[in-house]
Amino acid sequence: MADIDDSLDARISFGCPVGVQAILRAAWRHDTDALKPLLDAPGKASCRDPETGETPLHAAIRSMGPKGEQEGDIEKDAAATKTVENLLFGGAIWNDVDTNNETPGCVAWRLNQKGLYDQLVRAGARAEMLFAILDGYQELESDGEEEEDEDEEMGEAETETGAEANDTNRHEEGAEVEEKAEKVTEEATAEPTADAIEETPYLESHLTLVDGKLVDAAGNGVMMDWETDIMRRSVDAMLSPADAEPAKEKRVLNIGFGLGIIDSMIAARQPARHHIIEAHPEVLARIDAASKNPEAAGDDHAAEFGAAWEAAGEEKSEGAHKVYRGRWQDICAKLLAEGELYDAIYFDTFGEDYSELRRFFTDYIPGLLDDNGVFGFFNGLGADRRVCYDVYTHVVEMHLSEAGLDVAWQDVEVPLTKDGLDTAGAGAWEGILRPYWTLEKYRLPICTFMG
Ligand SMILES: C[S@@+](CC[C@H](N)C(=O)[O-])C[C@H]1O[C@@H](n2cnc3c(N)ncnc32)[C@H](O)[C@@H]1O
Repeated sequence: MADIDDSLDARISFGCPVGVQAILRAAWRHDTDALKPLLDAPGKASCRDPETGETPLHAAIRSMGPKGEQEGDIEKDAAATKTVENLLFGGAIWNDVDTNNETPGCVAWRLNQKGLYDQLVRAGARAEMLFAILDGYQELESDGEEEEDEDEEMGEAETETGAEANDTNRHEEGAEVEEKAEKVTEEATAEPTADAIEETPYLESHLTLVDGKLVDAAGNGVMMDWETDIMRRSVDAMLSPADAEPAKEKRVLNIGFGLGIIDSMIAARQPARHHIIEAHPEVLARIDAASKNPEAAGDDHAAEFGAAWEAAGEEKSEGAHKVYRGRWQDICAKLLAEGELYDAIYFDTFGEDYSELRRFFTDYIPGLLDDNGVFGFFNGLGADRRVCYDVYTHVVEMHLSEAGLDVAWQDVEVPLTKDGLDTAGAGAWEGILRPYWTLEKYRLPICTFMG
């Protein structure tokens, strides 16, 4: 990333409207007495410089400069904290991106302002919880005309915001924030994103499998083999560690076959029952074709899960091995009705936003998971941006708790450089529209029933 100029002159442009400048400058110098009366109308706390995308939150954090290890000016820290608090209270948006593609939280992290970073994470989690509650009330919104006028006045017209949740999961394309954030940088990264292709629902999209990457028609990475270690550790967390006895008593459900990486690992543990739910017709066709012709399939795990595998399961018990063909939203009700119960359930889909994951663990985990069972999911929520990942850790933790589940997080190192994950468009990301993973640590969730 090019060096970022954090000076006031670089961030508050010459052409910035006077009203916006006054707010940005008051935020910059942490002058809450001057700031408060300026935040007298909705939208003012989230105004932005039309050229740089600077918001008052960015300004209040940026003006702190980088924090050294030993440094600590208690008064200065307190003034910044109070300014940020006033702005958030006034309706400032926690995840607006500026023209450097940074949210206020990104700036705080880069400047090593840990206290302000944590303040932003807490605010983000609160905002996202609220969005989740209000989700069902969207239809009641006004046509927004008045707000638009206000926005223009406040300098919003020329830059897009990264408002709303970054509820992108690794593979989830309901990435509203990301979409908005991208508009700021999209000229630089324009890729083959024909609108017609973008709009094709994932389950109707043509998939390609090249070099260990399953990619949809728009170029999104559906599943990539760099995630193998995460899959292995997820299996170890749900069953017993890999070098222990096979998990012969266990009943396992995996939702989302993808490259079959996790299913291959589960199968190697010889569970008593192994069920898979997969919805994409081309993934299912690959299982059929590969299992009929394993030699041609090479090392494609799909070859392990065809009709022969299902038939072999009958020796254990009726329907012990099964690929359910369809969406989990349709299949899970059937499993419940049939009284299926699992010791381990893993959830990893694509093309669905966070609300679906939440719906799954709220509506289905209580009925499908044994009292002593373990639930795991691919935790890629907001993983293209540290602050969003941290916010979503809190959000999902709270929603899991509402669903009666405790979660323990296990940190897993992701060697970005070694795995070729450190450069968009190159290494592992070659041929992938945008990296959905940018962090050195994966937080692996291990969920169990409370009490
Ligand atoms: C990320 S991949 C799963 C990768 C898998 N964990 C592995 O180890 O290879 C996601 C899979 O979920 C499937 N999928 C997406 N939406 C689904 C749904 N509603 N029901 C069932 N499967 C779905 C996709 O077709 C895709 O195969």
